[in-house]
Amino acid sequence: MAAQIQASSSPSPHPPKSIKSISRSPALTSIPPAYIFPSSPPHPAADQSAPVGQIPTIDFSPLLSSSPDRRSGTVADLRAACRDWGFFVVTNHGVPDGLIAAMIEAGRKFFEMAEEEKEEYRGGEKGVLEPIRCGTSFNSSVEKVFCWKDFLKAFVHPVFHSPSKPPGFSQVLEEYSKRTREVARELLRGISESIGLEPDHIAKKLDLEQGMFQLLAANFYPPCPQPELAMGMAPHSDHCLLTLLTQNGIDGLQVQHHGNWVDVTNLSPNSFLVNVGDQLEILSNGKYKSVLHRAMVNREATRISIAMAHGPSLDSEVAPSPELLGEEEGTTQLPAYKGMKYRDYLLLQQSKQLDGKSGLDVVRA
Ligand code: OGA
Ligand code: NI
Repeated sequence: MAAQIQASSSPSPHPPKSIKSISRSPALTSIPPAYIFPSSPPHPAADQSAPVGQIPTIDFSPLLSSSPDRRSGTVADLRAACRDWGFFVVTNHGVPDGLIAAMIEAGRKFFEMAEEEKEEYRGGEKGVLEPIRCGTSFNSSVEKVFCWKDFLKAFVHPVFHSPSKPPGFSQVLEEYSKRTREVARELLRGISESIGLEPDHIAKKLDLEQGMFQLLAANFYPPCPQPELAMGMAPHSDHCLLTLLTQNGIDGLQVQHHGNWVDVTNLSPNSFLVNVGDQLEILSNGKYKSVLHRAMVNREATRISIAMAHGPSLDSEVAPSPELLGEEEGTTQLPAYKGMKYRDYLLLQQSKQLDGKSGLDVVRA
């Protein structure tokens, strides 16, 4: 029985298959010890006096406008949002509500399949570079404490990979990938402009036209009898340039802002929550920073989130943009990061346990 999983202080020799099955064991009134997360001390930089404020909202539609004035207003909004929060809500993006709902529903059906049905997507020989991979927690083969989450990851661009079941899943995923990729591309044009570069600078430099790496990360967080002891997803920043996230109407995400954890609430089902990833921090030489976030769980409801990560082509070497270095307003900007191939960064970040922004420490100059 899954609920009999034993605590261990070393990586579990028998990682659980799924948190879904543990969560549904009838006698479950407390969480198995291997799921008790060490409580995090208050962040040393927490500024208790800082106003909590609200995650900014960006109206996407002016980015498609031919009026330079309308566009430049949104570019200024993107600059402020990336600089002050690293997270923003995008509205009027043009992706149909029905497609977003269908993607969440397809995700639910995938997770609801019997565990045996998903066996072929578990633990392939390419490890974290396996193009279709499902599992539980983040990296259950190396973790000492497990997160209250099952996941599915699929590389959907430049080559489209998808599980072949449940029926209809791959069709919905293909369309959803295409539409979110277009939104991400346009946001990256605006962001490129917002750091003083040509709109297509990032796309050209990182081969986004042909090679943009796009990854589906679908997350399934079932009800948890002791949510205050567990963690859905440990604090981390995203490895990519930009992530677009949507959820099934159940909250749980927290974003770090001025050292405090801020709840993401009232995310409308037809908007995307977007965040700056590590590659954008590197490329912008730290002008924009990737931001820590984590997912909490709850007692009552299953939470599903669909995160689409958008990164450089896997063969791109990512380094601070030379245009942002050198003399600027009387001060010399030195590169704050060393260059690294995105494939190597991805491998590095995904192969460990999830640990804050530790991936970036490896490339700090
Ligand atoms: C992620 C992520 C948060 C969530 O998949 O990278 O941060 O709310 N997900 O599921
Ligand atoms: Ni994330």
